[in-house]
Amino acid sequence: MTPTTQTHEITPASRLANVRYAIRDLACVADEVIKQGHKVLPLNVGDPNIFDFQTPPHIIEAAYKAMRDGKNGYAPSPGIPEALEAIRSEAARKGISTVRDVFVTSGVSETVDICLAALVNPGEDVLTPKPDYPLYSAVLCKLGIGLNAYDLNEEDGWQPELADIERKLTPRTRGIVIINPNNPTGSLCTRTMLEKIADVARRHNLIVFADEIYDKLILDCDAQGNVTPHIAFASVAPDVPCVTFGGMSKNYLVPGWRIGWGIVSGDAAAVKTYTEGVHRLLRARLCANHPEQYAIKPALEGPQDHLVEVRRKLRSRRDLTQKWCESTPRVSCVAPRGAFYAFPRIDIPESDEIFVKELIRQKHVMVVHGSGFGQKPGTQHFRIVFLPDEQTLTRAYAGIAEFIRERYH
Ligand SMILES: Cc1ncc(COP(=O)(O)O)c(C=O)c1O
Repeated sequence: MTPTTQTHEITPASRLANVRYAIRDLACVADEVIKQGHKVLPLNVGDPNIFDFQTPPHIIEAAYKAMRDGKNGYAPSPGIPEALEAIRSEAARKGISTVRDVFVTSGVSETVDICLAALVNPGEDVLTPKPDYPLYSAVLCKLGIGLNAYDLNEEDGWQPELADIERKLTPRTRGIVIINPNNPTGSLCTRTMLEKIADVARRHNLIVFADEIYDKLILDCDAQGNVTPHIAFASVAPDVPCVTFGGMSKNYLVPGWRIGWGIVSGDAAAVKTYTEGVHRLLRARLCANHPEQYAIKPALEGPQDHLVEVRRKLRSRRDLTQKWCESTPRVSCVAPRGAFYAFPRIDIPESDEIFVKELIRQKHVMVVHGSGFGQKPGTQHFRIVFLPDEQTLTRAYAGIAEFIRERYH
């Protein structure tokens, strides 16, 4: 007789074996410590809203009004017209002159998912940076695509290592990802580097995915206090097929709203059929969050005052972090220039994963191990999110310094 219950184990697809999300995986260790009654200092999550950063009220009002006005059904698959128009204007302000298409997604996470899925066939690859934001490798694993990572060069301020890009190119490479400003290093690509990457893309018929989600969080200023302008890849290389990724999560302090977008640029004929493929996937998933899309135009075109305050806080916290790195034995760090991450190198006789797990257990400070982002063999790092206030950071850094002293004296 057939059994009435199904007890046979349901196993996940084997292509998921390499999907790691170190940032959240560490949560289990933190849970142990919290259960013992300790408070954990969270220098691990890139969510400004859990610290002293507030969403601009006019953006909240715009989304709330949209809900009150009944914008609660499905939106058009590519996004609502007024948001698309605002994103096109934003692209123009960024100097992107060859915009061929724009579309709204549920966070940049979905832009990445759709843009990679629309591009690669089995056996092909996409160059991703190492270290990288782990979503890229997770999506590629999900698609059954082997990873092909190019090094960022710590000795050169974490600029992409051009020689390594050339070495890693294969006849089946279809695209290249650049993250600028970078997570996890906080580095900015120089104009010369963007030009050189454009040249590689031209010579090898690649599409460039330019993740610029942190483009308004540049921390460097000139002597007069003017913020160093962000250089959009697509503005440097108007002819090169490119999708620029942008969104509301970081610049406008609403990561929970899940609003991102893609801006397709480059030669019109070169990007036409790929863009149609993207739209097939956009239609298949119906639409991005609807009422929140009404906040895109007010965000991009309304007051930007919050950014002055956000950058002021981040600059002060970056400086505190950098000073600590420079004065702590076994620690060194390329100064972050954008976003809210630092990626210090540590000189220790064990893995950085053991380092961060023991740090949570013993000092209740949570950072993420460098191996969770990828790094050159023989090097060890950890990623700091310097969003917490100065007092919290000072306490956390004292804990890390004490841990290093006690463990490796
Ligand atoms: C480089 C980078 N890209 C994309 C994302 C995902 O952003 P979103 O919240 O828009 O999905 C993040 C989030 O931390 C990120 O750091």
